[in-house]
Amino acid sequence: NFTRSITKVSNAPIHRLSTNIIPSHYRLYIDASQLEELIFQGTLDIDIQIKEITDEIILNSVNLNITQIGFQDNNFTSIILNGSVKFNQEYEQAIIKFHQPLNPGNGRLYLSFNGKINDRLNGFYRTQSGDSLGACTQFEPGYARQAFPCFDEPSFKANFTITIRSHKNLTTLSNMPVKSKSNGENDTYVYEFETTPIMSTYLVAYVIGYYDYIETRDINNVLIRVYTSIGKQNQGSFALKTAAKILPFYADYFGIKYPLSKLDMVAVSDFGSGAMENWGLVTYRETYLLVNGHTSPQKTKQDVSLVVAHELAHQWFGNLVTMQWWNDLWLNEDNFASWIEFLAVDYVYPEFDIWTQFVSDTLATCMVPDALHNSHPIEMSIEKPTEIDEIFDEITYGKGSSVIRLIHAYIGSEAFRRGLSNYLAEYSYKNTITDNLWSHLSRASNNSHLSSILSTWTKQMGYPLLTVKEKQKGNERLITIEQMRFLADGTKDDRLRWKIPIDICTKSSPNESVYQLYLNGEKKQEFLLEKISSTDWIKLNLFSVGIYRVDYPQSMLEALTPGINDQTLSPQDRFNIQADVFALARAGRRGYVDYLKLLRQAYKHEENLTVWKSILRQLSDLGSIFEYAYLNNTKLLYQSYVCDLLLNIYNKLTWDSLPNESSQAIILRSIILLNMGLYLKSDAQEERLILLNALSHFDDESLQYQALDFLWNATQVRKQDHLNAFSALAAHNRRGSEICWKYMRENWEKIVQLYGEHDSHLIHYIEHIPGLFASVERSEEVRKFYIAHPNPFLDRSIKKVLEQINIRRLVLERHEQSINQFLSVTLINERFSRV
Ligand code: BES
Ligand code: ZN
Repeated sequence: NFTRSITKVSNAPIHRLSTNIIPSHYRLYIDASQLEELIFQGTLDIDIQIKEITDEIILNSVNLNITQIGFQDNNFTSIILNGSVKFNQEYEQAIIKFHQPLNPGNGRLYLSFNGKINDRLNGFYRTQSGDSLGACTQFEPGYARQAFPCFDEPSFKANFTITIRSHKNLTTLSNMPVKSKSNGENDTYVYEFETTPIMSTYLVAYVIGYYDYIETRDINNVLIRVYTSIGKQNQGSFALKTAAKILPFYADYFGIKYPLSKLDMVAVSDFGSGAMENWGLVTYRETYLLVNGHTSPQKTKQDVSLVVAHELAHQWFGNLVTMQWWNDLWLNEDNFASWIEFLAVDYVYPEFDIWTQFVSDTLATCMVPDALHNSHPIEMSIEKPTEIDEIFDEITYGKGSSVIRLIHAYIGSEAFRRGLSNYLAEYSYKNTITDNLWSHLSRASNNSHLSSILSTWTKQMGYPLLTVKEKQKGNERLITIEQMRFLADGTKDDRLRWKIPIDICTKSSPNESVYQLYLNGEKKQEFLLEKISSTDWIKLNLFSVGIYRVDYPQSMLEALTPGINDQTLSPQDRFNIQADVFALARAGRRGYVDYLKLLRQAYKHEENLTVWKSILRQLSDLGSIFEYAYLNNTKLLYQSYVCDLLLNIYNKLTWDSLPNESSQAIILRSIILLNMGLYLKSDAQEERLILLNALSHFDDESLQYQALDFLWNATQVRKQDHLNAFSALAAHNRRGSEICWKYMRENWEKIVQLYGEHDSHLIHYIEHIPGLFASVERSEEVRKFYIAHPNPFLDRSIKKVLEQINIRRLVLERHEQSINQFLSVTLINERFSRV
């Protein structure tokens, strides 16, 4: 749920540090003994190499006072030069000047500094659990500079020797194991940690606070611990067990052992994003690490195992081998991790059937925003690290990992693994670029086209719609495929082309690739399928591996229906067929009634979790549009249609879990029950959700508004949870979204102040709240709001949201009449036939 968004920026090199000065070793001392006053003191020696004579050293530093500066030249004398400092706020740099030139060679920079422990959830920030105060770091992408002056770019890798002074009662952790602990003044300890391997600044971490832990060792003897707030350690046991299996899995898969002797995973009570892969000290939002016995544990277990698998993959892919610069860094590392988390979870928990869920949870979600005019390619240039916050969204994570899935399927799992492990071996403890990964994969698979195929997916936005025609000639079938960008509003843009490997299955072999086609980027191509009988249906995009939509003629689609009904088609293919029809209807390229009919004809006996998740998400999208219906009975008719569709599966699932039930059945039950509207009374919900539900059920609007105000201002509601609470209320119904929008407009200054002007949370408020509207008036309101509160950081989001509102309005205008008619007739027929 922690999606982020993107803004195009120029690639001015001005913010980058010079490569004239290269750090190699930081000795960092942090005195955190004045935690209660929310301040810290630090000293720092950095071994540096100077390449050309200079009288200044420029490094990154923000919100720090630098109180002492010295430089010692190793080559000549032991005289310490004094320096003076000026700050460049905009570039987040400290410019240190010396009266004397510094000669090429090695030297050591000495700094003393101090700063504030902030409450912004990044840099060195405060955490609070109950009454007890703690502190924690979040340095990715560019926040290490808020905690100590440093060369804060991923390619300046160095060793770090960290020492921390803190109060005796507090747990104190860093990337490495403690090397020594000594008594400090005033009831403090001074912890010296072992020196880290050579690594990037954004991976440095320390955590201080009241924690309990549990521990185990993996089969390679790595000590793994899960730290939780006091008394919650047992809730960490699932994550601990999972990590102990996944860590050796990766060591084996990559062919490189985990380089440290310990791995700590900490559930931090205040956490801005989902999780962070700091080397040896991975930090998590509590809900992504802890499984608590009361709240839907099966779903939580899946989420926790995926997040743990994601962050542990980064210990190699990201921490050991790191991208040169940020655009490659998130593109490659986070997307890769978002793919391999599924591989690892599938290995450890095959019963989760997690790869099937990939298509509804990852692939499907990125295909929605990527069909907007205001989408963006996953490869983009970035100027400064703070702009990274703008580029994490369901497109980058979802499309990136879907592209990797596609490559993996295309070159085969063994070639893929080999290429990967060669790549990691070559670039360990170094920096690299994405192309080096592609070339290792090409080499391992003997496929020289790989990077040209890939670039059509990563360097341009969107994905294609394939329009298919078929003609049977005796024992052969002529297939024509035309490609064009798929756009969610149904408009045409014929400028982009993709290179597309296509796997086709048939009625006689519904679960394997019978024909492999390759679209080479031409507008229209023909293929002759041999040895196929006229009664054999064909389906493109086997297992829904490709990122494209297929528009079949009605006859081809109808031929597929039996394969869905009797479930000879795989769940991914059943998912795929209805998802494409839905998207085409939403874009006005087919009737919505086609979709509603298809569900009744082919999916009434569906039992697969993934297929249902997709259907239900799409139905609720349409339902939320009907909040704005013109005809007064559309919503009601629609509700009874949905209930009717769910009836079979609902009757099949009993209220209570059965003894040997699969984990998907457990999740499916909760989803179906939720959708049947019977979930409200269940006591398994988190308190916060109960509060929200109650909130949206108040009849009095001003009461709701007051409640929102309370929620917002209540000190019990953490800053990390505001956005979630807000979006949940907005998504509830029309009134919910209107109230949130009103609140958001009236309190915008406050919201901006709370997060800062360039924080990704703002993007989510913009995209998730007014994104639920479906009328011209509302869209005008949003436009005017933005004119009154311009912020270049939000340009793309505003365009996206206006586009989205417009599409939702078009759905009503294009389809409401026909849907209403269809539903009325069906319903009347049913009622009468029952009598
Ligand atoms: N490295 C990221 C977290 C990150 C990215 C922090 C950019 C700051 C800036 C981490 O590996 C990650 O991807 N976290 C996700 C959750 C994950 C399970 C997909 C997140 O925090 O949203
Ligand atoms: Zn990641």
